[in-house]
Amino acid sequence: MNADQNLCVALARRPEQTVSASDFMLVSHPMPQPGPGQLLVRSHVLSLDPYMASAIQGRHMSGAIAVGDVMPGELVGTVALSRHPDFAPGDLVVTRGGWRSWCVVDGQAPASANGLDAILAPVALKISPVANVPASAYLGVLGMPGLTAYALMLRCLRPGPGDTCLVFAATGAVGSAAGQIARHMGAHTVAYVGSREKARHAREVLGFDAAVVRTEPDALAQLAHACPAGIDALVTNDCGAELGGIFGQLARGARVALTGAMSQYNSAQPLPGPSLGQIIARRASVSGFVVFDHYDLMQRWRHLAASWMADGKLRFHEDRSAGLAQAPAAFTRLMRGETMGKALVVLDQPA
Ligand SMILES: NC(=O)c1ccc[n+]([C@@H]2O[C@H](COP(=O)([O-])OP(=O)(O)OC[C@H]3O[C@@H](n4cnc5c(N)ncnc54)[C@H](OP(=O)(O)O)[C@@H]3O)[C@@H](O)[C@H]2O)c1
Repeated sequence: MNADQNLCVALARRPEQTVSASDFMLVSHPMPQPGPGQLLVRSHVLSLDPYMASAIQGRHMSGAIAVGDVMPGELVGTVALSRHPDFAPGDLVVTRGGWRSWCVVDGQAPASANGLDAILAPVALKISPVANVPASAYLGVLGMPGLTAYALMLRCLRPGPGDTCLVFAATGAVGSAAGQIARHMGAHTVAYVGSREKARHAREVLGFDAAVVRTEPDALAQLAHACPAGIDALVTNDCGAELGGIFGQLARGARVALTGAMSQYNSAQPLPGPSLGQIIARRASVSGFVVFDHYDLMQRWRHLAASWMADGKLRFHEDRSAGLAQAPAAFTRLMRGETMGKALVVLDQPA
């Protein structure tokens, strides 16, 4: 790479259906220079997250991504130049720098930023290494996806002994942590996944009590077998038609958290959703869940997660692609359900 140039990935066009690598383009920008209070950060690992597809469709609360924009998102990197007194070259940070080889970000959020603005601000946060855990975990189990799982279970679904907890995308970044937390809270855990390989990983590596393959014709029968007394706690990241059959297996008084809409993210047009009549019949409580409301729990979660990892009670998996140019293809695999674990792109340095 030319040392004066900054390689970035930008949106080339808005996809009609699931994103594909050709919807993105590699662009070369001049090297950015930090101003007063700012840092130049060299990117090591980029986070790929499904909400980005919703933002590409202009339907996400984090803001719309326009054609020509460099893709936004979190990364782990190292400070190369600092013009902020609290940072020095070599500091490891997590920041919202986007799909760039190098980024300039602030050393602290503007005093006026609060709520969602503060969470989304391009600000560097120093991270401390956790023994035997790669720094990239700050984009997954120790970052936003892990926090999503923790806040979901602690504040929304509250599964306990005697409960059955069904987790969609159970081998993904959020779902893998969610299932393990629910098990530690005493629940019987059932994974709802897209392939037999994922079902095996959910049972044998992540410790789910049972797994159902959503793409198989008898998925609802598998579910009834895995949840004989019904589903007490459900976390779903897809609001497609299949939810109707799942709502029909809710236990009375179930709690349901709607965390995402994968089919919607993969469509330029809004899709019809399931009937909510089953929710009424089962007296279920349904919550819309947004992780941005729960950042106050982040330090508590990181502390707990680090101790669970040290004790072998919390496992995580990463899907790593190598090189910035692979980011579009890796993101396409994520949105097709072809990844397992936290989807990452590793640039030219280990982290
Ligand atoms: N509400 C919030 O605050 C919040 C925060 C973070 C993440 N989320 C949501 O949580 C979900 C999981 O996020 P993640 O980062 O951990 O991603 P992920 O689970 O690693 O990847 C997404 C997974 O969704 C599953 N999926 C279900 N229906 C799908 C469909 N129609 N098409 C493609 N894939 C489908 C696939 O797993 P299977 O093949 O196993 O089904 C796929 O691997 C996403 O929907 C995300 O938007 C919400």
